[in-house]
Amino acid sequence: MTTDPATPATPPVPDPWSSVADVLVVFGITGDLARVMTFRSLYRLELRGLLDCPVVGVAGDDWTLERLVQHARDSVVATGETLDEDAFGRLAGRLAYVQGDFDEPATYARVGEAISGTKHPVFYLEIPPFLFGRVARGLAEAGLTTEARVVVEKPFGHDLESAKALAAELHRYLDEAQLYRIDHYLGKMGYEEILYLRFANTVLEPLWNRSYVECVQITMAEDFGVDDRGHFYDPVGALRDVVVNHLMQVLAAAAMEPPSGRGPDALRDAVVTLFRAVKTADPAHYVRGQYDGYQDIDGVADGSTTETYAALRLEIDNWRWAGVPFYIRTGKRLPATQTEMRVVFRAPPPVDLGLGAGGDRRPVRDEFVVKLDPSTGARLIVDARRADGQGPQAITLDAELSEEGGEGATPYEVLLHAAIVGDSGRFKRQDVVEESWRIVQPLIDDPPPVHPYVPGTWGPAIASSLVAEHGGWQGPWIVEPDGAGR
Ligand code: BG6
Repeated sequence: MTTDPATPATPPVPDPWSSVADVLVVFGITGDLARVMTFRSLYRLELRGLLDCPVVGVAGDDWTLERLVQHARDSVVATGETLDEDAFGRLAGRLAYVQGDFDEPATYARVGEAISGTKHPVFYLEIPPFLFGRVARGLAEAGLTTEARVVVEKPFGHDLESAKALAAELHRYLDEAQLYRIDHYLGKMGYEEILYLRFANTVLEPLWNRSYVECVQITMAEDFGVDDRGHFYDPVGALRDVVVNHLMQVLAAAAMEPPSGRGPDALRDAVVTLFRAVKTADPAHYVRGQYDGYQDIDGVADGSTTETYAALRLEIDNWRWAGVPFYIRTGKRLPATQTEMRVVFRAPPPVDLGLGAGGDRRPVRDEFVVKLDPSTGARLIVDARRADGQGPQAITLDAELSEEGGEGATPYEVLLHAAIVGDSGRFKRQDVVEESWRIVQPLIDDPPPVHPYVPGTWGPAIASSLVAEHGGWQGPWIVEPDGAGR
């Protein structure tokens, strides 16, 4: 018997949880995240014609719908958007509000009434993680989760054990396929750009391995401090706040194998396969810093040893990367706000073409940079001969991608849309979460001392010893307000 190769032998199994949502229910709609991110994202989706369902807010506050609409308007305006009244009017027309205590079954009954007639609700839990289980249970007991998706916000535990416990609690009421865990880096254009540049361009992939790469450096620098987030930040610190989630995701994009197969799980499978090959981190290659003045912040404990700066070295034990260190550094109150992934290639031997330049000089190492924030761009650093110099030198070939295609969608816009249409590939699976914690767990169990640093500097000086054998930290590529790069 011959089979038509275009026809799969077995039809794909329909995923009961991937249908386009017919209602979005936001728990915690009166809170900070909604004010800063959610209303703006919904408004921008509305502007672009990508929002097509009612939005029901749920919270404990005794608000009227009018108050919620006014709050939504104020929130959108406060983010700097110039309000298009038609678009905002359409968004306002979608809003409904349910007031209730998350402990009360009656709240879920009211949510059920507010969404009656819908089949595929998306429940977005913008609430502290300790409430996730409670709300999931309330929804499940009210019979609202059968064909629902539930979107949750980080943190997903504070270490490996608590991440497993949180998942076990949620899995009592929800299948893993129903859970959409947000890491907003998965909605960033720069994250996608790393993957596309790597896999869609023949010039890069052949060089992207231990034969040509000396090291990879990931930098997430922020020039602002912890400010009014002391209560949140002090029990967390830089490693848990941004390394275990956002920066591990950047590392995955830089180091994973090309996804094999199609569909949302192909990419996530590639991520988890990569993470399984990452050696458990060694505290001997971990530097922690705390900026001077951090301890005066409201909510920070006296004598706190929480790190506001973290730098570490990871190793990947697979064919592609054996022997190539991956360095990650991040900090608050550094000289600039800039996130990038930088591949540093091996230096070639000296080049003497007999043309009066070069000689014994070793060319600079080529570097390829993808900038994720504050805007997306790519830079290639090559060694070149310039007419205005005495000899060859490093030159930069820059592409500011926002100048190529205009402003992209914001991460939350991308992710809310993905949650609504059922694109699970944009969200974190539990195996990815657990592998990330497994990798950093020794750094949590056995943290090195925290070193002070002066605000506005690049962190504690000792962090340079981590990368000394590879020529120190490179970059980051900073674009000045006048557009000049350095
Ligand atoms: C958040 C952290 O998850 O990410 C913040 O809690 C951090 O501390 C922020 O500043 C950085 O996100 P972005 O998109 O501004 O790089």
